[in-house]
Amino acid sequence: METIGTMSKIIHLAQLGEADRQLLETARNASSHAYAPYSGFAVGAAVRTKSGRVYLGSNLENAAYGVVMCAEVGAVTAANTSGDLEIVTIAVVGHKFTSPQDHSQIVTPCGRCRQIISEAGEVAKTDIRVLSSNGDFSRILDSTILEMLPAAFGPGNLGMVEQWPKMRKELQTVVANLKAAHFPE
Ligand code: THU
Repeated sequence: METIGTMSKIIHLAQLGEADRQLLETARNASSHAYAPYSGFAVGAAVRTKSGRVYLGSNLENAAYGVVMCAEVGAVTAANTSGDLEIVTIAVVGHKFTSPQDHSQIVTPCGRCRQIISEAGEVAKTDIRVLSSNGDFSRILDSTILEMLPAAFGPGNLGMVEQWPKMRKELQTVVANLKAAHFPE
Protein backbone atom coordinates (compact mmCIF):
# COMPACT_ATOMS: atom_id res chain seq x y z
CA MET A 1 0.00 0.00 0.00
CA GLU A 2 1.39 3.34 -1.10
CA THR A 3 0.96 6.31 1.21
CA ILE A 4 1.09 10.06 0.73
CA GLY A 5 2.72 11.70 3.72
CA THR A 6 1.72 9.97 6.94
CA MET A 7 -1.89 9.37 6.07
CA SER A 8 -4.42 8.06 3.60
CA LYS A 9 -3.95 5.47 0.96
CA ILE A 10 -3.75 4.97 -2.75
CA ILE A 11 -6.40 2.49 -3.81
CA HIS A 12 -7.67 0.86 -6.99
CA LEU A 13 -11.06 1.63 -8.47
CA ALA A 14 -12.11 -1.98 -7.84
CA GLN A 15 -11.70 -1.44 -4.07
CA LEU A 16 -14.50 1.11 -4.09
CA GLY A 17 -18.21 0.38 -3.87
CA GLU A 18 -20.49 1.03 -6.82
CA ALA A 19 -21.75 4.39 -5.49
CA ASP A 20 -18.22 5.74 -5.05
CA ARG A 21 -17.09 4.49 -8.46
CA GLN A 22 -20.07 6.27 -9.96
CA LEU A 23 -19.24 9.43 -8.02
CA LEU A 24 -15.75 9.46 -9.56
CA GLU A 25 -17.18 8.87 -13.02
CA THR A 26 -19.66 11.69 -12.50
CA ALA A 27 -16.84 13.99 -11.35
CA ARG A 28 -14.79 13.18 -14.43
CA ASN A 29 -17.81 13.85 -16.65
CA ALA A 30 -18.16 17.24 -14.94
CA SER A 31 -14.53 18.03 -15.85
CA SER A 32 -15.66 18.13 -19.49
CA HIS A 33 -17.58 21.32 -18.59
CA ALA A 34 -14.56 23.10 -17.12
CA TYR A 35 -13.91 26.62 -18.31
CA ALA A 36 -10.13 26.49 -18.21
CA PRO A 37 -8.62 28.48 -21.08
CA TYR A 38 -5.66 29.70 -19.01
CA SER A 39 -4.39 26.56 -17.29
CA GLY A 40 -5.60 23.93 -19.75
CA PHE A 41 -6.31 21.92 -16.60
CA ALA A 42 -9.83 20.56 -16.21
CA VAL A 43 -11.20 19.54 -12.82
CA GLY A 44 -14.55 17.99 -12.00
CA ALA A 45 -16.00 17.44 -8.54
CA ALA A 46 -19.05 15.53 -7.37
CA VAL A 47 -20.46 15.52 -3.84
CA ARG A 48 -22.90 12.99 -2.45
CA THR A 49 -25.04 14.05 0.50
CA LYS A 50 -26.81 12.12 3.26
CA SER A 51 -29.94 12.21 1.07
CA GLY A 52 -28.04 10.26 -1.62
CA ARG A 53 -28.28 13.14 -4.09
CA VAL A 54 -25.23 14.18 -6.11
CA TYR A 55 -24.14 17.72 -7.02
CA LEU A 56 -21.48 18.74 -9.52
CA GLY A 57 -18.87 21.39 -10.07
CA SER A 58 -16.17 22.15 -12.59
CA ASN A 59 -13.44 24.77 -12.46
CA LEU A 60 -14.27 28.25 -13.72
CA GLU A 61 -11.29 30.41 -14.65
CA ASN A 62 -11.16 34.13 -15.31
CA ALA A 63 -8.96 36.58 -17.21
CA ALA A 64 -8.31 38.09 -13.78
CA TYR A 65 -6.41 34.95 -12.77
CA GLY A 66 -6.82 35.34 -9.02
CA VAL A 67 -10.59 34.92 -9.02
CA VAL A 68 -10.62 31.33 -10.30
CA MET A 69 -13.30 29.09 -8.81
CA CYS A 70 -12.28 25.49 -8.13
CA ALA A 71 -14.50 22.56 -9.10
CA GLU A 72 -14.99 21.62 -5.43
CA VAL A 73 -16.39 25.06 -4.60
CA GLY A 74 -18.90 24.68 -7.42
CA ALA A 75 -20.04 21.26 -6.18
CA VAL A 76 -20.36 22.31 -2.53
CA THR A 77 -22.18 25.48 -3.59
CA ALA A 78 -24.59 23.48 -5.76
CA ALA A 79 -25.45 21.25 -2.77
CA ASN A 80 -25.92 24.30 -0.55
CA THR A 81 -28.12 26.04 -3.10
CA SER A 82 -30.43 23.02 -3.02
CA GLY A 83 -30.60 23.14 0.80
CA ASP A 84 -28.70 19.84 0.93
CA LEU A 85 -25.31 20.70 2.47
CA GLU A 86 -24.92 17.48 4.48
CA ILE A 87 -22.12 16.08 2.35
CA VAL A 88 -20.70 12.65 3.09
CA THR A 89 -18.33 12.09 0.16
CA ILE A 90 -16.59 14.27 -2.42
CA ALA A 91 -14.83 12.97 -5.53
CA VAL A 92 -12.29 15.14 -7.38
CA VAL A 93 -10.81 14.31 -10.78
CA GLY A 94 -8.45 16.47 -12.83
CA HIS A 95 -6.29 16.29 -15.94
CA LYS A 96 -4.34 18.54 -18.25
CA PHE A 97 -6.21 18.43 -21.55
CA THR A 98 -3.98 20.64 -23.69
CA SER A 99 -0.89 19.32 -25.44
CA PRO A 100 1.02 17.61 -23.96
CA GLN A 101 -1.96 16.03 -22.25
CA ASP A 102 -1.33 14.55 -18.84
CA HIS A 103 -3.80 12.58 -16.75
CA SER A 104 -1.24 10.96 -14.46
CA GLN A 105 -1.42 13.27 -11.46
CA ILE A 106 -3.87 12.85 -8.60
CA VAL A 107 -5.76 16.09 -8.01
CA THR A 108 -6.28 16.81 -4.32
CA PRO A 109 -8.38 19.75 -3.11
CA CYS A 110 -6.42 22.97 -2.67
CA GLY A 111 -6.12 24.58 0.77
CA ARG A 112 -9.10 26.90 0.31
CA CYS A 113 -11.27 24.01 -0.85
CA ARG A 114 -10.21 21.94 2.18
CA GLN A 115 -11.39 24.77 4.43
CA ILE A 116 -14.75 24.84 2.63
CA ILE A 117 -15.14 21.04 2.73
CA SER A 118 -14.15 21.09 6.41
CA GLU A 119 -17.00 23.47 7.29
CA ALA A 120 -19.47 21.35 5.29
CA GLY A 121 -18.28 18.43 7.44
CA GLU A 122 -19.05 20.44 10.59
CA VAL A 123 -22.57 21.06 9.30
CA ALA A 124 -23.06 17.38 8.44
CA LYS A 125 -21.29 16.27 11.65
CA THR A 126 -19.33 13.92 9.39
CA ASP A 127 -15.66 13.41 8.58
CA ILE A 128 -16.24 13.80 4.83
CA ARG A 129 -14.56 11.16 2.69
CA VAL A 130 -12.39 12.70 -0.03
CA LEU A 131 -11.64 10.62 -3.13
CA SER A 132 -8.99 12.37 -5.21
CA SER A 133 -8.08 10.85 -8.55
CA ASN A 134 -6.01 11.23 -11.64
CA GLY A 135 -7.72 11.29 -15.02
CA ASP A 136 -7.86 7.58 -15.79
CA PHE A 137 -8.60 6.38 -12.22
CA SER A 138 -5.31 4.45 -12.10
CA ARG A 139 -4.35 6.36 -8.93
CA ILE A 140 -7.00 7.25 -6.36
CA LEU A 141 -6.24 8.76 -2.97
CA ASP A 142 -8.79 7.61 -0.37
CA SER A 143 -8.76 10.15 2.44
CA THR A 144 -10.95 12.21 4.75
CA ILE A 145 -11.14 15.93 5.32
CA LEU A 146 -9.85 15.55 8.90
CA GLU A 147 -6.76 13.85 7.52
CA MET A 148 -6.33 16.51 4.85
CA LEU A 149 -6.95 19.49 7.14
CA PRO A 150 -6.19 18.61 10.75
CA ALA A 151 -6.69 21.23 13.45
CA ALA A 152 -8.91 23.27 11.13
CA PHE A 153 -10.33 26.62 12.14
CA GLY A 154 -14.08 26.18 12.18
CA PRO A 155 -17.44 27.21 13.63
CA GLY A 156 -16.32 25.91 17.04
CA ASN A 157 -13.69 28.66 17.19
CA LEU A 158 -16.51 31.21 16.95
CA GLY A 159 -18.77 29.38 19.39
CA MET A 160 -21.19 28.62 16.58
CA VAL A 161 -21.45 24.83 16.49
CA GLU A 162 -25.01 24.44 17.73
CA GLN A 163 -26.53 27.68 16.43
CA TRP A 164 -26.91 26.96 12.76
CA PRO A 165 -29.85 24.49 12.67
CA LYS A 166 -31.97 26.97 14.67
CA MET A 167 -30.83 29.93 12.57
CA ARG A 168 -31.54 27.99 9.39
CA LYS A 169 -35.15 27.41 10.52
CA GLU A 170 -35.48 31.12 11.29
CA LEU A 171 -34.13 31.94 7.84
CA GLN A 172 -36.73 29.72 6.20
CA THR A 173 -39.52 31.27 8.27
CA VAL A 174 -38.37 34.78 7.35
CA VAL A 175 -38.34 33.93 3.64
CA ALA A 176 -41.78 32.26 3.90
CA ASN A 177 -43.12 35.38 5.67
CA LEU A 178 -41.67 37.65 3.01
CA LYS A 179 -43.32 35.54 0.34
CA ALA A 180 -46.66 35.58 2.17
CA ALA A 181 -46.47 39.38 2.49
CA HIS A 182 -46.09 39.81 -1.26
CA PHE A 183 -48.43 37.06 -2.39
CA PRO A 184 -51.11 36.75 0.31
CA GLU A 185 -53.15 33.57 -0.20
N1 THU B 1 -8.34 23.42 -9.51
C1 THU B 1 -9.53 22.92 -9.05
O1 THU B 1 -10.60 23.18 -9.64
N2 THU B 1 -9.53 22.15 -7.95
C2 THU B 1 -8.39 21.75 -7.30
O2 THU B 1 -8.49 21.04 -6.31
C3 THU B 1 -7.08 22.17 -7.78
C4 THU B 1 -7.09 23.20 -8.83
C5 THU B 1 -8.36 24.23 -10.74
C6 THU B 1 -8.08 25.69 -10.54
C7 THU B 1 -7.54 26.07 -11.90
O3 THU B 1 -8.62 26.38 -12.77
C8 THU B 1 -6.85 24.83 -12.41
O4 THU B 1 -7.35 23.74 -11.61
C9 THU B 1 -5.35 24.84 -12.30
O5 THU B 1 -4.95 25.20 -11.03
